[in-house]
Amino acid sequence: MEREWEKWEDKHKGMFDPVLRNHDTIGLLAMDKEGNIAGGVSTSGWANKMPGRVGDSPIIGAALYVDNEVGAACATGLGENVIKTAGSFLVVEKMREGYSPLEACKIAVNRLKKIHSKEKNHQVAYIALNKNGEHAGYSYKNGFEYAVVTNNSSQLIQAAFLNK
Ligand code: GLY
Repeated sequence: MEREWEKWEDKHKGMFDPVLRNHDTIGLLAMDKEGNIAGGVSTSGWANKMPGRVGDSPIIGAALYVDNEVGAACATGLGENVIKTAGSFLVVEKMREGYSPLEACKIAVNRLKKIHSKEKNHQVAYIALNKNGEHAGYSYKNGFEYAVVTNNSSQLIQAAFLNK
């Protein structure tokens, strides 16, 4: 079965790459008027995955981590690398240490450097929200945007990134 999958994958190179196809995990972080934080993530919708592959979405601390005392983070991109670094957990733990959401996301993306640079074209991005309602997004590569919606506004923000 794996062999068949590899043959198929060779023939359709890049066709279902989540970066090239521009679809991946959808993450949502929310704060209510009392300051309680919640979060959720979808699966990536990545077609023709290796049978049995488990992405980062269902793994607590990988694509999503919420601690209502500190804040929350979620990830999108190549799930294997998010899992290897317990990425969202790392972001929240860095906010617990006092880092801003942006600094915490940068630390988690930098943690990917060694393992991620071997996989050209792949992306990982984080968004984070702390108890003060401060938020940030940061990605490995250019091109990640996140939306911020409040009672009075809605905006799409181009996230800062590590590599061109
Ligand atoms: N980030 C989604 C996945 O890798 O499955």
